[in-house]
Amino acid sequence: PYIQDRYLVNGSLKKWEGKFTEIVSPIFEATPEGTLVQKSIGSIPDLGKKEALEALESAYTAYDKGRGAWATMKVEERISCVEKFAEMMLETRDEVVKLLMWEIGKPYNESCNEFDRTIEYINDTIVALKAMDRADSKVQKSDGIYAQIRRGPLGVVLCLSPYNYPLNETFCLLIPALIMGNTTIFKPARHGILLLSPLLKAFQTCFPKGVVNLIYGSGRTLATPIMKSGKVDVLALIGNSKSANILQEYHPKKNRLRLVLGLEAKNPGIVLPDSDIDLAVKECLLGALAFNGQRCTALKILFVHEDVVQEFNQKFVEELAKLTVGLPWDSDVNITPLPEPTKPAYIKELIDDALNLGAVVLNKGGGDSLKSFVNPAVLYPVNNKMRVYEEEQFGPVVPIVSFSDIQEPLDYISESNYGQQVSLFSKNASSLAPLIDSLVNQVCRVNINTKCQRGPDVFPFVGRKDSAVSTLSVHDALRTFSIRTLVAFRSN
Ligand code: G3H
Repeated sequence: PYIQDRYLVNGSLKKWEGKFTEIVSPIFEATPEGTLVQKSIGSIPDLGKKEALEALESAYTAYDKGRGAWATMKVEERISCVEKFAEMMLETRDEVVKLLMWEIGKPYNESCNEFDRTIEYINDTIVALKAMDRADSKVQKSDGIYAQIRRGPLGVVLCLSPYNYPLNETFCLLIPALIMGNTTIFKPARHGILLLSPLLKAFQTCFPKGVVNLIYGSGRTLATPIMKSGKVDVLALIGNSKSANILQEYHPKKNRLRLVLGLEAKNPGIVLPDSDIDLAVKECLLGALAFNGQRCTALKILFVHEDVVQEFNQKFVEELAKLTVGLPWDSDVNITPLPEPTKPAYIKELIDDALNLGAVVLNKGGGDSLKSFVNPAVLYPVNNKMRVYEEEQFGPVVPIVSFSDIQEPLDYISESNYGQQVSLFSKNASSLAPLIDSLVNQVCRVNINTKCQRGPDVFPFVGRKDSAVSTLSVHDALRTFSIRTLVAFRSN
């Protein structure tokens, strides 16, 4: 087990002598008697308010109202710190991948992909920053005034990352924040936390003291006093809107706070009568169930035209039956244990509610569970009385709605609290122009004949309504975590 007994504050890896929280794997193991037991894989410090404020003071002092060494350092020097960090991080690949499997049940290939994609993200950020620095620092002239335009940091960033992409989404926030000269306090999610242990040394070695502070414990205990201090300039959170709303309210000068939020979504797939059904089935299956549906970008409800719904459902269930259930290290596995202990019961509630209101589970064994495993369930016909119609399931349930008039899915999208993405399936993509034009005003990405997803990471990742605030991508995040400043002078 990983006994993580140190946390990073003010450049030192402090030893924690207080209470610890045990981390258990979602993977159950059989005892010699055949009983299934959950495996303890380590523990993390359960830090308190004192340590949270210590981390805050460390980040605040290192930033020193923009006068700190990190904020005033030349861009090239900050880049070389990040390059060194990426080099050290590469050495941890095997260990981090192993922990991604044990802690959050992510299949081996997807865990490798998350690691490699993160390294690529860091490298692409460096390239993008060099290009942006050249473009943004050119001098503009107008009416006899020359202005040198620069990009400056914002200050202290409180960063809270999610469990489903504990590495990639963490670094999509941290790296752009750091490279632009901000200082950070980082509190990871409870699941997928031990995998940061192999990186602690790299954080400590590559960044000046106080620039990265990593604390462990409950979000409420740690983030509340940090936000109440009024010393946080950016709240960068990927997770749920409830926490985001509570935390921003604590800030005494809310209008000074920049929000970078990646929140819930209920992305619909719309299968039109002229779709290539085989393609729609393949994309919707992967879109809905990759990593057991635990992605904000997952397709969370499918609207299928009544003329093709029988064919679609039959093929969907056939393809679903080919997915393999197993442990993360089994080869080509698709369905793995769920890390959130309450998730199987929640999924069962959604299924039972839909069944009571007239839906059926189309696939054999759909919804069956064993401890942390839940066999994906395809629910049909789903209607607006059922909880799964609106709630973001963030798990292995696929609700299918049959529609006769395109207005039904369009109304669903316009009335939804969320506005991230939609996927449209049709063989006549050129006829979709008016539909696309209206949808881009409702969501932030319209996918044609392809599932919803975040990547490629160079594309802007953004959402409307309760789905997101600010734009994240390799390029956009550099602007999200910085502000334009000018030095203007008269020439004569
Ligand atoms: O939970 C949201 C993640 O950003 C999903 O990313 O679509 O690239 O798998 P992805």
